[in-house]
Amino acid sequence: MFDKETYISRRAALKAKMGGGLLLFPGNNPTPANYPNNCFHHRQDSSFLYFFGQQREGLFGVIDVDHDTTYLFGDDIDLDDIIWYGSVDSVASLAAETGISHSGSMADLSSFLANARQEGQTLHFLPPYRHDIQMLLGELTGMTPAQLKQAASVQLIKSVVDLRSVKSQAEIKEIERACAIGNKMHTTAMKLCSTSVTEHFIAGTIEGIALSLGGMVSFPSIVTTHGEVMHGSPSDNYLESGRLLLVDAGAETTDCYCSDNTRTSPVSGRFTNKQKDIYTLVEECHDLALQLAAPGVKWLDVHMDVCRHMTEGLKQLGLMKGDTEEAVQAGAHALFLPHGLGHMMGMDVHDMEGLGQHYVGFDDEVSPSSQFGTASLRLGRRLQEGFVVTDEPGIYFIPALIDNWRQKNHCAPFLNFDVIEKYRDFGGIRIEDDLLITDKGARILGRDIIPYHLQDVEDYIAKNKY
Ligand code: GLY
Ligand code: MN
Repeated sequence: MFDKETYISRRAALKAKMGGGLLLFPGNNPTPANYPNNCFHHRQDSSFLYFFGQQREGLFGVIDVDHDTTYLFGDDIDLDDIIWYGSVDSVASLAAETGISHSGSMADLSSFLANARQEGQTLHFLPPYRHDIQMLLGELTGMTPAQLKQAASVQLIKSVVDLRSVKSQAEIKEIERACAIGNKMHTTAMKLCSTSVTEHFIAGTIEGIALSLGGMVSFPSIVTTHGEVMHGSPSDNYLESGRLLLVDAGAETTDCYCSDNTRTSPVSGRFTNKQKDIYTLVEECHDLALQLAAPGVKWLDVHMDVCRHMTEGLKQLGLMKGDTEEAVQAGAHALFLPHGLGHMMGMDVHDMEGLGQHYVGFDDEVSPSSQFGTASLRLGRRLQEGFVVTDEPGIYFIPALIDNWRQKNHCAPFLNFDVIEKYRDFGGIRIEDDLLITDKGARILGRDIIPYHLQDVEDYIAKNKY
């Protein structure tokens, strides 16, 4: 938790942006896994945490901009809770910790909102993504879940996005703490990468590192020798010599700031020549994005420059052909790179994605694309100092996609399908780091960078293998 003034000034900035109305911030509740008392790990809502700082379940924050008053609602625990879960602070003291002098029970919240609605105050809330919160907001506002989705406040979304997009020094420090844990996770995976372990074993071991340091993972770890499956789950298969292990994993600190990195390692410890060619091209794309990223630069332009560089490289390897610009305009490169170059990162690994990608990654100047591949780009707008974005190019050989395009002759003037066929069982390579946009350019977050240059990866494995 940051100091009290941080939350006071964040709420003041939000009030100034909104100008009026009643802003509703439901915190998250316990989420049963298989019966009510057996719950998933509690994860607080990121926007609630940003403005109200408290991790406890069952809280609800309200900022009454019209009357310049902030409230924290929630029920104090009873003796039964103390017996089973231990004692926690009262809602009033949780409120005071973040500079809020008004608090009340959930019943108080109900009557408070009934009164506000009667007085005609405008209610603003973010799009609810959990069903229990949809039900609660439904009860409080009299709306159905479908109406709630429509009624989410665009003004509040835009204001929250403005504030959360630019990270403070204290937030950067937290993200770097997550990166340090992520470094331990990834270097451990590299040390373990051998035919004597399964994908699950590596995933479990590295997720244990995140948990052992007090937080959790920032998303379910992708640990797979089938890197061509974008969000592939780890299997019980032992790693096979000659294949590549793709590990896309990150940590979340106790204050819920994330890291997100990907490394691709050769199971045998050395890349084959074919793997070296593709790896080197992905490495070049990663470094090109790092070099181009700077305040004022459109991330869409960085993405497209990386696509051009990738196309040039794939042409040299005989996998693509024709005019580079025409190939990229046609979207031919998306056979190999069906996702975007990167996304915002912060308290959510895909930061604020639940608020609507259009509002987070795009604006009046840059609109999302509908073309396959570029359509998956989650950020296109101009970068600002203080943004944290992932730099994650990849090259994949997806048999189902290759067959589909070949059958339809899709982008055929730019693709050498006979050569591509020889890579059918290659898998995929991705290299991902988290970039901080600085005053002049960008830097990779984390004091120690996880080895990613081809020679560094081979050397690290050779020296450190368990
Ligand atoms: N690291 C997973 C993703 O960015 O989708
Ligand atoms: Mn990512």
